[in-house]
Amino acid sequence: MTTNPWRSRFPGITGEWARFDGPAGTQALDRAVDAIDGYLRDGVNANAHGTFAASQITDRLVTDARATIGRLLGAPAEGVVFGPNMTSLMFAFTRALAPTLGPGDEIVCTQLDHDANVWPWVMAARDREAKVQRCRVDLTTGRLDTAHLAELLGPSTRWLAITGASNAVGTMPDLAEAVKLAHEAGAKVLVDAVHLVPHRRVDIAALGCDALVCSPYKWYGPHAGILWLDPDLLASLEPYKVRPAPDEGPTRLETGTPSYEAIAGVQAAAEFLLDVGMDVIAAHERATFSPLLDGLLGMDHVTVHGPSDLVDRAPTVAFNIRGMHPLAAAEALAAVRVAVWSGNYYALELMTALGLEETGGAVRAGLACYTDDDDVARLLEAVASLG
Ligand SMILES: Cc1ncc(COP(=O)(O)O)c(C=O)c1O
Repeated sequence: MTTNPWRSRFPGITGEWARFDGPAGTQALDRAVDAIDGYLRDGVNANAHGTFAASQITDRLVTDARATIGRLLGAPAEGVVFGPNMTSLMFAFTRALAPTLGPGDEIVCTQLDHDANVWPWVMAARDREAKVQRCRVDLTTGRLDTAHLAELLGPSTRWLAITGASNAVGTMPDLAEAVKLAHEAGAKVLVDAVHLVPHRRVDIAALGCDALVCSPYKWYGPHAGILWLDPDLLASLEPYKVRPAPDEGPTRLETGTPSYEAIAGVQAAAEFLLDVGMDVIAAHERATFSPLLDGLLGMDHVTVHGPSDLVDRAPTVAFNIRGMHPLAAAEALAAVRVAVWSGNYYALELMTALGLEETGGAVRAGLACYTDDDDVARLLEAVASLG
């Protein structure tokens, strides 16, 4: 049995539902809700760069939030760009980057990635007559084929776009090895850390990647996105922007007025992760996830996709129930107040490769730091009853 020290910090977690929909968006932390509420309620909401107190408080909020995110990701704060979500930031980034690409250039994406780290690259490449390659996944283990990655990376590769953790089957590629291989080939690396940041400590300085994206609403904050760029890379881009807007630092890519209230909530959520410590969260999630995985693997009518072990994986599992459409299974679980996802969760390449895209994908259950043993027991009991 594990006890959950943080569960009471999530007002949306009442015990009525067992929530396994964290990979699609987690419940918000009390402090994040308070920070958003406070910013809007206390008369400090104002646009930035003004002469009066409220505007200066907003300036400080943004500066402090960038610093906090810099600490969370182990990276210089001047590379932290805020946006509405990861997907919009990816399209803004690849659009700004496109002029640096040309015929003969290659981008390596992976079969393990969410489409938001595939299609923005495909569209930018299409505009510039560059080529996109796909690194294979071993379909039995759900692991990225590192030998294939090494084969694909070469003198024509300009970017490697790779996930830190699969939002479908949970596997975590060896990022250090991938960055090393890409840099040796002369390519830059963007890491999709949307499914990684809620579950592991991220240290951009140690990893050496050139860009990284994540979404705070997957780690207890409000709906928002974060793009971190190496400051020199950021300065070299040609973003689409209006003329009077600042043309220095992260604001170059922050078109229009940001959601300052969201930034206040993001900062509070990031402080929570820093205070608790990602290693503590990872250990707790592993202990809670282990019986869930074992339980599903032990059921004859259940097929688990991807790895059957706990090595280098997020506490996220995709599975099918014999004779049952994944949507029908998700509906049956919802009927007993167990929230899961079904479909492809935009991990389109992987679901297609697994041959599941045509048949409705798979059911996905993901843990968050607030998941407890009772939630796991409820899910297992509900799945067992569908056999
Ligand atoms: C791994 C991964 N990448 C990217 C995204 C897209 O994130 P956003 O909704 O912030 O655009 C998601 C969302 O589910 C995801 O799980």
